[in-house]
Amino acid sequence: MESWGPMLRALLSGPGRRGGTRGWAFRSGQPHLPLAGLSSATELVNHWTGVFEKRGIPEARESSEYIVAHVLGAKTFQSLRPALRTQPLSPQQLQCIQELSSCRLQRMPVQYILGEWDFKGLSLKMAPPVFIPRPETEELVEWVLEEVVQRPRVEGAQDGPLILEVGCGSGAIALSLLSQLPESRVIAVDKGEAAISLTHENAQRLRLQDRIWMVPLDVTLEGSWTHLLPWGPVDLVVSNPPYVFHQDMEQLAPEIRRNIFLEVDPRQPELVSRWLQSRPDLDLQLVAVRRDFCGRPRFLHIRRSGP
Ligand SMILES: C[S@@+](CC[C@H](N)C(=O)[O-])C[C@H]1O[C@@H](n2cnc3c(N)ncnc32)[C@H](O)[C@@H]1O
Repeated sequence: MESWGPMLRALLSGPGRRGGTRGWAFRSGQPHLPLAGLSSATELVNHWTGVFEKRGIPEARESSEYIVAHVLGAKTFQSLRPALRTQPLSPQQLQCIQELSSCRLQRMPVQYILGEWDFKGLSLKMAPPVFIPRPETEELVEWVLEEVVQRPRVEGAQDGPLILEVGCGSGAIALSLLSQLPESRVIAVDKGEAAISLTHENAQRLRLQDRIWMVPLDVTLEGSWTHLLPWGPVDLVVSNPPYVFHQDMEQLAPEIRRNIFLEVDPRQPELVSRWLQSRPDLDLQLVAVRRDFCGRPRFLHIRRSGP
């Protein structure tokens, strides 16, 4: 991913990202891809689909459709008016499609190439090396929303829930919860500076910055949780961590009022369940496991056992 940085910076800061990237120079060794004879969006999609397929690029058609649609100012190829799909493109548009497609040939994820991606209806900026949110994670957000809406407010609480997200990445989970729960507030923690600053930028883009606090923190470091104490007990914790933070759950347990929602690897629910049973002192119980849209057990709901 490192090698994409300079290329992307050049692409994204070049003049008129949607209308052409004349400021961007091809790197040496870039394959020369002739465009002669191709002029419409449909022809370009077919051309690049064929090139991607030949070079073993995954999701060849989707990739070329997203790139061409993006250059024409649309989110999806299907949403382009039929006339726009067949009329000739400008030389700048052709050039831009060629440049973005060259990035895809180097296996850059399409979300980084476009520089933005939708998550639960929110358009989020994407930039390497920050994790690209997966579609399954939308289901985790749905589950949290269901639970929050169903549960009575905590006694004495004046605002909506105070949510802690561990490992916020681009802010996808935190910001979609904030946008759906107008009284909620979120503390978004990540150890990556790039993630913290992207979450900050996305919060501003979506005008949600007043209800989110970004905390750069490595939660595996000794005593790191003390940085979160000024906010008081949180109502729930949500996380799509790279692994389940056993040690961190121990430290966090007394500070959670109610719930933890985790996205995990399908092999982990059983392990987490056994581990929680072996630690009754934590007062935490795995109350439900949900499957994702592929039927894999991916989401855990852990709750305090006591009153
Ligand atoms: C799988 S990504 C999830 C990002 C985002 N929540 C999403 O679903 O798109 C995990 C995130 O956890 C962060 N992370 C990993 N280890 C961490 C740690 N020890 N402390 C804080 N954040 C951590 C990573 O930087 C990364 O942004």
